[in-house]
Amino acid sequence: MTSDVPTITLNDGIEIPQLGFGVFKVDPAETERIVTDALEAGYRHIDTAAIYGNEEGVGAAIAKSGLARDELFVTTKLWNDRHQKDSAHAAIDESLAKLGLEHVDLYLTHWPTPAKKDYVEAWEALLEIKEAGKTRSVGVSNHQIAQLDELVAATGQTPSVNQVELHPAFSQLELRIHHQKLGIHTEAWGPLGQGKYDLFDRGPIVEAAEAHGVTPAQVVLRWHLQIGNIVFPKSNSKHRMVENFDLFGFELSAGETAAISLLDENKRVGSHPDDVN
Ligand SMILES: NC(=O)c1ccc[n+]([C@@H]2O[C@H](COP(=O)([O-])OP(=O)(O)OC[C@H]3O[C@@H](n4cnc5c(N)ncnc54)[C@H](OP(=O)(O)O)[C@@H]3O)[C@@H](O)[C@H]2O)c1
Repeated sequence: MTSDVPTITLNDGIEIPQLGFGVFKVDPAETERIVTDALEAGYRHIDTAAIYGNEEGVGAAIAKSGLARDELFVTTKLWNDRHQKDSAHAAIDESLAKLGLEHVDLYLTHWPTPAKKDYVEAWEALLEIKEAGKTRSVGVSNHQIAQLDELVAATGQTPSVNQVELHPAFSQLELRIHHQKLGIHTEAWGPLGQGKYDLFDRGPIVEAAEAHGVTPAQVVLRWHLQIGNIVFPKSNSKHRMVENFDLFGFELSAGETAAISLLDENKRVGSHPDDVN
């Protein structure tokens, strides 16, 4: 099957599909069915995490799909209480066993937990895990500018991605500029504002949806793709999975993209990374 989803080449040469499927808050008991639906809808990039408790369901759906391993891009994340090296090495083995995989494509630290002052050790552990062949690429999540600089200064190794909250009401311009400077790609979590915002009623989003004959959610996701973000919206509904994957039959104009970027209110729907420890 050919896919319209573009790939992005990360700073280590690994290619990642720019659009994927996220499984935060997908019930472990439903995950196999929901990820099977997502794979049938065409998604080939799945974003999970140890803390979501649903890696086994992701693995079961992958096994059942019959898809070749190299057709899939699987990300998982190291939870906050596993940052010490020994614990991190055990954690990736646990994740791989649950996923039924010999390696993941991308392994991330989930939060920097700054009060514990162990995010550099966690990053060093991820570099060792990559060296051991258990992940093809390594990155971080929820890191701020100074923390990224600290990781690079301490190890000389730059994360391939930083996965952060990002949507039109919280567009993280300063952080994205810093990512570009360092060669880090931006992954946007909560790309639809987790449905907690009235994003889909905002003027520029509604107007673009009407102009292109698409839904406000498709406009928001298309905005992400056009500003260079990697996204993996979550949906339990097959109908919305299909909708969220159907982003390649229209293009926002530069004016539409700029108008959506101006909706930024510097407002998060999730936790501030300083508060997660
Ligand atoms: N690194 C981190 O700390 C972190 C934090 C949060 C999330 N993430 C990752 O990012 C992924 C995406 O973020 P997210 O799940 O938090 O939020 P999201 O994708 O922004 O939003 C998901 C919500 O939007 C609804 N939705 C999906 N498609 C829709 C559509 N076309 N129209 C209307 N509503 C729609 C979903 O409802 P239905 O399910 O009912 O369709 C769900 O309530 C996660 O699944 C996870 O993989 C990472």
